[in-house]
Amino acid sequence: MAKVTQSVDLGTRGRVAVLTVDNPPVNALSQHVRKGLHDGIQQAIADGAVQAIVIVCSGRTFIAGADITEFGKPPMEPSLHSVLDMIESSPKPVISAIHGTALGGGLEVTLACHYRVGAKGARFGLPEVKLGILPGAGGTQRLPRVVGPQKALQMIVSGDPIGADEALKVGLIDEIVDGDLAAAGVAFAEKALNEKRPLKKIRDLDDKIAPARGKPEIFAEFRKSVARQTRGFRAPENCIKAVEAAVNLPFAEGIKRERELFVELLNSPESKAQRYFFFAEREAAKIPDVAADTPAKEIKKAAVIGAGTMGGGIAMNFANVGIPVTVVEVQQEALDRGLGVVRKNYETTASRGRLTMADVEKRMGLIKGTTDFNAIADADIVIEAVFEEMPIKKEVFAKIDKIAKPDAVLATNTSTLDVNEIASATRRPESVIGTHFFSPANVMKLLENVRGSKTSKTAIATAMTVGRRINKVPVLVGVCYGFVGNRMLHQRGIQAEKLILEGALPHQVDRVLYDFGFPMGPFAMGDLAGLDVGWRIRKGRGVKSPVADRICELGRFGQKTGAGYYKYDEKRNPTPDPDVEKIIVDVSTEMGITRRPISDEEILQRLLYPMVNEGAKILEEKIAIRASDIDVIWVYGYGWPVYRGGPMFWADSIGLKALRDKLLEFQKKTGDAFWTPALLLSRLADAGKGFLDR
Ligand SMILES: NC(=O)c1ccc[n+]([C@@H]2O[C@H](COP(=O)([O-])OP(=O)(O)OC[C@H]3O[C@@H](n4cnc5c(N)ncnc54)[C@H](O)[C@@H]3O)[C@@H](O)[C@H]2O)c1
Repeated sequence: MAKVTQSVDLGTRGRVAVLTVDNPPVNALSQHVRKGLHDGIQQAIADGAVQAIVIVCSGRTFIAGADITEFGKPPMEPSLHSVLDMIESSPKPVISAIHGTALGGGLEVTLACHYRVGAKGARFGLPEVKLGILPGAGGTQRLPRVVGPQKALQMIVSGDPIGADEALKVGLIDEIVDGDLAAAGVAFAEKALNEKRPLKKIRDLDDKIAPARGKPEIFAEFRKSVARQTRGFRAPENCIKAVEAAVNLPFAEGIKRERELFVELLNSPESKAQRYFFFAEREAAKIPDVAADTPAKEIKKAAVIGAGTMGGGIAMNFANVGIPVTVVEVQQEALDRGLGVVRKNYETTASRGRLTMADVEKRMGLIKGTTDFNAIADADIVIEAVFEEMPIKKEVFAKIDKIAKPDAVLATNTSTLDVNEIASATRRPESVIGTHFFSPANVMKLLENVRGSKTSKTAIATAMTVGRRINKVPVLVGVCYGFVGNRMLHQRGIQAEKLILEGALPHQVDRVLYDFGFPMGPFAMGDLAGLDVGWRIRKGRGVKSPVADRICELGRFGQKTGAGYYKYDEKRNPTPDPDVEKIIVDVSTEMGITRRPISDEEILQRLLYPMVNEGAKILEEKIAIRASDIDVIWVYGYGWPVYRGGPMFWADSIGLKALRDKLLEFQKKTGDAFWTPALLLSRLADAGKGFLDR
C-alpha cells in the first residue's frame, strides 16, 4: 500500500484499487482526507492495471462528517465538490464500503460513488440541518435521485440517520455485507465488473424524481407536516427548497441553487447561533479543575429514593440504558402509584410504535420497587428525590450514609435547597453532589449537576459521565438558590407578574415569548405544571402573589382542573378567560395601578433582560463555569430556541451596552433596584465586549 496523504492509502487487490481513509477518531473530511481521496482516485484512474476502485475507512466508522476544526477558517483546496466530481466522473466504477456512520460530507462522498455497500450496523444521514445549514456538496441533489423526494425530505429536514436495512429498502445502498469490509467491497467490485454493470451516476437518475416534477403540492404538504417542529428555524425551509430544485431543475442548475441556499444559511443568524451552540454543548463537558481522565465510578447499579413525579422519571433513565435501578418509597401505596406511572409511560411509548412490548417488560424488569431502605446497599449511585424539605432531606441522607457502599456517589435532586447542608447530614460530604433533573425527567435533556464545597472530583466526574450515559446533557454548576436555570427563571417570573398588573394580559405575555421561539410562555407553563404547587409553597412561607393566589382560591389549578390563567377544553386547548382578566384588572385597581397598553417590545425586554443580568451575576459569583454553559442550560432545560443560541449569546448579539443602558432606563423609570446592572455586565458593556469574549 502506498500513502497518498497522511490519512489516505492506496493499495490494490488484483484488478481492484482500494483507497483506505484513516483519520481517527471519526475519519472527518479534513483537508488531507479530501486531497487523499482526490489524488488517490486520480492515481487509480491512471493505473492501467486497475479496473474498479473501492473506498473504505479504518477504525470505528466511515467518514462521519466535516472536520469541525476547519469550521470558520478559510476554505482549503481541494474542495469537497472537486473530490466528488473526481469520483463521479471516474471511467472506472467506484464503490464505497461503509461501516459505522456515513454522515454529512461522508454520505455525500458515497453518493458520488457508482455503488454503495454497507455493513449491517451502518447508519446513513445528512445532519447539517442541526447546524442550521444544508448538505452543500450535492447531498440535496443526489439523495432525492436515489431515494425519491419524500424520503430525501424526511432525512434532510430531520437530520436523523437511517439504518442499513432501511437504506437498502429505499435504494440508498446496493447490498448489505458482512465480514472484512474492504474484501466485501472488492467482491462487489468484481461482481460489477464481471456483470459489466454500467457506471451508475446518481446525477443522471430520473425515475424517482420524475413523478414529483411540477407537483408543488407534495412540498406544500411536507412543509405542513413539519411546521410545528421547524417553527422559527431557517434551515428546514431552504432544505425543502433545495430538494424541490433537485426535482424540477437539471442537475447542474440544482447544484447552483443548492449553493445559493447554502450560502444564505451559512450567513444567517440562526445558523451562527446553532453552530455556536454545537460547540457550547461540547465545551460544557470540560471542567477546568477536573481533568478529563479523572476516573469516574462505573455505575452498574443505581438507586432512587422517592417514586414521585421526579423519582419515577429518573429511574426510567437508568432502565432505558440497561442499568438496574432500585426505587425506594416510604409506603407501598406511593410505590405502586409511582411504578404504575412509569409503566403507563412506557406503554404509551409502545402504543406509538417507539418501543416493543418486550422492551417495556425488559425495562420494567430493570426497575425494582421496595419499601426497604437496605436495598440501596449495592448501588453505585443513590439519587434522592423526596419532598423538597430540608429536615426530610437530611434525615434521608443520614440514612443513606449508613447503608450505601463506601464509594457510592450520593446525589440529591433538590431544586432549591443547599447541597452543602444536605451533605452535612452525612459523614462523607465529598461523595454528595446535586443532580438536578428537569420535569419530565425521562424526557428533558438537561442535567444540572451541582457541586458542593466538599464534592470530590470523582463524584463530579461520575455525575458528568453517568449523565451522558443516560443520554442527558450534564452541566456543572455551583450552589446558590435555584442554581442557574431556576434562578434566572425567577427573574423572568417577577416581571411576568408585574406586566399583567401594569396592563398586559397573560395571553399577550405568553404570545411574545412564543413568537420569540419558546414552546410556551410563563402563564401557560404555570397552568401546565399546576398552580397549586407554588400556591402551597407561598402559603407555607407567608408570601403573596395576588393574582395567582386569587386564581387558586377559585380552585383553578391549571390544565388538570380545566382552568387556570386560561380556560381549557377537553383537548386541553387554551383560550383566554374574561374571568381571569377581571381578576387581574381588579387587583391592579386595588393596588392603585393605572393600567396602560404595553408594547411587545417592552414585554420581551422586561422578561429577558433581567435573566441576562442574573446570568451575569451567576458568572461573577462563579456559579457557572462559563457563559456558554448558561446557554446550554436554557436551551435544554427551558426550551430557549437554539436558533437564538441561548440568553448569553443572544445578549451579545444585541450588544451589552444597549442591554445595560436599557436596564438603567427601566431603573430610572421605576426606581426599582431590581434593574441595577450586574457589575460584570457594566464592565463588559463599558469595554465594548460580550460575555463570550471575556
Ligand atoms: N416536580 C418538578 O418539576 C421537579 C423538578 C426538579 C426537581 N424537583 C425536585 O425533586 C424532588 C422530588 O420532587 P417531586 O416533584 O418528584 O415530588 P413528589 O412529591 O412527586 O414525590 C416525592 C416522593 O418522595 C416520597 N418520599 C417522601 N419521603 C420519603 C422518604 N423518607 N423515603 C422515601 N420516599 C420518600 C413521597 O412518598 C413521594 O412519592 C424535590 O426535591 C423537588 O424539589 C422537582
